[in-house]
Amino acid sequence: MNIDDLNKARAFDLNAIDADFINDPFPTLKLLRDHSPVHRNLDGSVYLTRYNDVKAVYQSKVMSSDKKQAFGEKFGKGGLYTHHTTSLIFNDPPYHTIVRKLLSSAFTPRKLAEMEPLIKNIIDNLLDQLEEEQEFDFIEAYASKLPTEIISFMLGIPEQHRSRLRGYSMAILGALDPVISDERMQAGNEAVDEFGALLDDLINHRRNNPDGAGEGEVLESLIFGEFNGKKLTQKELVQNCIFLLNAGHETTTSLVGNALATLLDNPDEFSKLKANPDLIESAIEEVLRFQSPLQIGNRLALEDFELNDTVLPAGTYIHTSIAGANRDPAVFTDPEKFDISRKPNRHLAFIAGIHVCLGATLSRLEGKAAIGQLVQRFPDIQATGTGELNPLARFRGYNKLPVRIGG
Ligand code: HEM
Repeated sequence: MNIDDLNKARAFDLNAIDADFINDPFPTLKLLRDHSPVHRNLDGSVYLTRYNDVKAVYQSKVMSSDKKQAFGEKFGKGGLYTHHTTSLIFNDPPYHTIVRKLLSSAFTPRKLAEMEPLIKNIIDNLLDQLEEEQEFDFIEAYASKLPTEIISFMLGIPEQHRSRLRGYSMAILGALDPVISDERMQAGNEAVDEFGALLDDLINHRRNNPDGAGEGEVLESLIFGEFNGKKLTQKELVQNCIFLLNAGHETTTSLVGNALATLLDNPDEFSKLKANPDLIESAIEEVLRFQSPLQIGNRLALEDFELNDTVLPAGTYIHTSIAGANRDPAVFTDPEKFDISRKPNRHLAFIAGIHVCLGATLSRLEGKAAIGQLVQRFPDIQATGTGELNPLARFRGYNKLPVRIGG
């Protein structure tokens, strides 16, 4: 055993990470997996980096997603606290079950089948615009556009408001990073207030015009839907719609951006995809594994929890490294290699258990179509500069990715 590596792993603290970790967390995750897989941070929380440990936590019934206490300490009172403690993702049953059931109506196979031609159409139009521009920032011009259009369509967000959604989303989700500045906190609170006011108006309008929903729109079923005699209150509706919008576009933007960036960094794999378009499905799965848009999750142990030889006592706050799990050599052969034909590929990018991503099928559809159609139409796409990652540990994706489509 290498003592330096062991000491480095032991000295790691998730609450004191720096830009190097954010840029390239993978060497540190390997160190932790090898030398400190159930790693204690200075504040007593635990950081898990092995696949089986992360999965066991997600599948356990004694793990809570309720963050009222942690968010109360972190955010105080204000929009961020209201938002994150009302979203289904940070709640346990029975509230979680009710909201999930109501939101699920948006993701039935029938609704998703309706989406496919819409997705294809939006992409064709976007690609037409790219052809005119030739040289552009891939994230702004393409990756962020499709998911925003899709989720706005599902919730009936009018055209004129759509350009603001990504800024709101980054401000709200950015505040979830382990360490945040006062500016980031303020930006997050303001984003919840502004975005909330917009949705409040929209929901009131739909309440007064119950028959005004367009084809494929799901806001109506969230407003009027009922599960076990319970309807969502206005606050629950507003905050869960904000959540759906955020969940639905930032992660998918990252998936599309990470896919192109990783393909450009791995020209052999890119050539393989160009020669075999049928590999698009497994290529998207590999991007989800290799550059997971959501890298870190959290749970609180409500009871003592046994993990191999260690018992995590009730009350332990657990950080799950999705990124670490997805490169665990115990599950993935040659895990640091980007291999678009990898099979099987049971990554945890959408996690497992009762909070498993509700939008997994939709985002796979979007990712497949966005990259598949792009590569077919512009196979010579190439980088014109270095991509710029978001400065966030939890969400891995690009802020900027300059490219040119010509040869
Ligand atoms: C590549 C894209 C995406 C990734 C990587 C992703 C990842 C995740 C992950 C890891 C979770 C679980 C978080 C936790 O409980 O700790 C989650 C939950 C969720 N995601 Fe996604 N997501 C993506 C796209 C989407 C899309 C497109 C939508 C909807 C339009 C969506 C809606 C949701 C919802 C509603 C939940 C909460 C589920 C619950 O708490 O029961 N996601 N997602």
